[in-house]
Amino acid sequence: MDARALKIEAARAALDHVEHGMRLGIGTGSTAEEFVRLLAEKVAAGMEIVGVPTSERTASLCRELSVPLSTLEETPELDLTIDGADEIDPALSLIKGGGGALLREKIVAAASAKMIVIADATKLVDTLGRFPLPIEVNPFGLASTRIAIGAAAEKLGLSGAIVLREREGKTFVTDGGHFILDASFGRIPDPRALSDALHAIPGVVEHGLFLGLASLAVIAGSDGIRTVVP
Ligand code: A5P
Repeated sequence: MDARALKIEAARAALDHVEHGMRLGIGTGSTAEEFVRLLAEKVAAGMEIVGVPTSERTASLCRELSVPLSTLEETPELDLTIDGADEIDPALSLIKGGGGALLREKIVAAASAKMIVIADATKLVDTLGRFPLPIEVNPFGLASTRIAIGAAAEKLGLSGAIVLREREGKTFVTDGGHFILDASFGRIPDPRALSDALHAIPGVVEHGLFLGLASLAVIAGSDGIRTVVP
């Protein structure tokens, strides 16, 4: 089965957790987009849900497919968020933000009673950190913030390149108007300590470590679907 087929299988299995009347957080990325396509079929068949998208990209796909949308202002408490991830460890700690939507993804997940992560089996790791950690920063003071991130990481025994994300030769700008630094620290043995250290830096808006947010992972591999709980 190719990578896209696995993403579709994970998305299809997660759809079983969606019930009529639910208020749903809708993730960002290629796996979440497969979920949106399948959700749209359910909606067309009569299922009533309302979705809060985690990015402008997801919002526009939902509009295109007639998935009803709301905002966190109108619908501040959600039943379930379904989203992809860049890495998933056995405790369901995640790295997210490869698609640049980590801030809204984290706000929406935190507003949800449950978060289900959907992914193909390549996203499973023993320890987070093979995927560079996306860190969303305010453009003001970028150079100082980058130095502070490096220094905070060093105190935890972590080091590596911290690179300003670019797309097509231009600085990547998030939906919130911020920049992203991708930090290649390698293995992160204590994600909580790194999370706390990054949150203590004023220029850091948010980071891609999602800790204690996911309640279930639905993983599709060549041997079928398996679920992981923390
Ligand atoms: C978006 O910002 C990310 O957090 C995505 O959820 C993550 O990058 C997974 O994307 P794919 O499903 O495309 O791998």
